[in-house]
Amino acid sequence: MNIAVKSPTPPAVSANVKSWLAKPKKLLIGGEWVEARSGKTFAVEDPATREIIAQVAEGDAADIDRAVVSARKAFESGPWHRMLPAERAELVWRLGDLLAKYGDELAEIETLDNGKPITHARAVDVEGSAGMFRYMSGWATRLTGETIPVSSPGNWFAYTVREPVGVVGQIIPWNFPLMMAAWKLAPALSAGCTIVLKPAEQTPLTALRLGELIMEAGFPAGVVNIVTGFGETAGAHLAKHPDVDKIAFTGSTEVGKMIVASAAGNLKKVSLELGGKSPAIVFPDADLDTTVAGTASAIFFNMGQCCTAGSRLFAHKKVFDKIVAGLTSEAGKLHLGHGLNRETTLGPLVSEEQHRRVTGYIETGRKEGAEVVVGGSAVGNRGHFVAPTVLAKTNRDMTVVREEIFGPVVCVQPFEEDDLDNIARFANDTEYGLAASIWTQNLTRAHSLARMIKAGTVWINTHNWGDAALPFGGYKQSGWGREMGKEVMELYTETKSIGARLV
Ligand code: NAI
Ligand code: MG
Repeated sequence: MNIAVKSPTPPAVSANVKSWLAKPKKLLIGGEWVEARSGKTFAVEDPATREIIAQVAEGDAADIDRAVVSARKAFESGPWHRMLPAERAELVWRLGDLLAKYGDELAEIETLDNGKPITHARAVDVEGSAGMFRYMSGWATRLTGETIPVSSPGNWFAYTVREPVGVVGQIIPWNFPLMMAAWKLAPALSAGCTIVLKPAEQTPLTALRLGELIMEAGFPAGVVNIVTGFGETAGAHLAKHPDVDKIAFTGSTEVGKMIVASAAGNLKKVSLELGGKSPAIVFPDADLDTTVAGTASAIFFNMGQCCTAGSRLFAHKKVFDKIVAGLTSEAGKLHLGHGLNRETTLGPLVSEEQHRRVTGYIETGRKEGAEVVVGGSAVGNRGHFVAPTVLAKTNRDMTVVREEIFGPVVCVQPFEEDDLDNIARFANDTEYGLAASIWTQNLTRAHSLARMIKAGTVWINTHNWGDAALPFGGYKQSGWGREMGKEVMELYTETKSIGARLV
């Protein structure tokens, strides 16, 4: 099958985004937009055309220091410190409304920066981010403690209160730039923390537009500080900073381990959302159309750059050939192109580095004996496009089955057994534990297997689905802690026990 980039040329960028891109892109520190101390900037490219679309301030250690001072001041004194929970809730809700109000513009910026299809950016990234702020705003007024019935002799009144953890450093990746900022900022703000956010160097733009909306919403100066810059400089300095109380990170497992080591200096709290190698397990009784469309989307959505991507597909041998044929046909139907073209369903990978990594994995797969059923190569001559790829004849020892590829590449394997223990064993045969999907119409099988899988999320007859109210995070090397839902508030609060002797 010949897979080509069908619409590489973008339509014109809207006038307001064009003029926004041309403006200087500075750091948000203490409520002011400031240049990096070094005066340096770095270029941001459109991954579909490789053209430079903006220059952004390159913050480093000196700027992180300034941002932490400003976040500390906002936390310890000033209006944020005195604000009522309902006032915080109102601000967080208002920010969600502003995201919805400027949704078209945010989606356009996200597509230009990350490459993803504009229809997905609008419906998933922007709507999901607005919804996250609105959902999380409710927790500001619901952070209750408990009264505790103690058994010590005497007359006691004992209770707990929940308090914000303090100054939080948040380091986010490039696959869902705006949404990752929302997942991190929304609960931290509702809890009453102050923040230094470090966006990914590949995709800093929507975080900067979000910074403007944070000021428009009326958050006090210094509550949210945004320092764009590189991981090895700005990110590393934030992770080891002695005056940061907590660090929240989403990205590679490799850097996650470095964050843990850096956090040891002042024993700051750490939460991590890392890589995955999630299985999709298909039983013979699964609805074929739903399963083919669902398992294709599990790996091709967002060009496979999802921590939850269904990158190991196990199909029972009775349906294996049909599933592989279905996936191949779905791959052929994808419209590769510039994300701003509304018919595009598969954009480029985010960067040259990611393109090199993914095509390198495909080559390694071939060398290790995998059969390329469809795709298997770079496409086009301008952007970082990779064809949607299905690799068959794969097994547990292959690099492509063991390591996270983070591209539109699925490894398919047939299975024969019906014993759920054995099925759980191969599904769990990974150092990761982020997600899994089970495709069957048999309720007992679905829910029994769901309990046997070592992963933070298990889907039944769907994949890559989530909700602001549903906790999300990883077992094993997929991370520490849970984001979203009620559980995320644990990450941004401390519990204080108060014991009063009633004399
Ligand atoms: P990365 O982990 O290097 O980057 C993620 C964030 O961490 C970025 O903001 C980056 O600037 C920052 N960072 C990098 N080095 C740092 C350091 N030493 N200290 C503090 N912060 C640092 O991920 P990268 O290199 O962009 O992608 C590599 C692989 O990581 C991908 O192929 C994929 O497998 C995985 N990944 C997983 C993501 C997820 O959602 N769990 C998101 C992005 C990447
Ligand atoms: Mg890296």
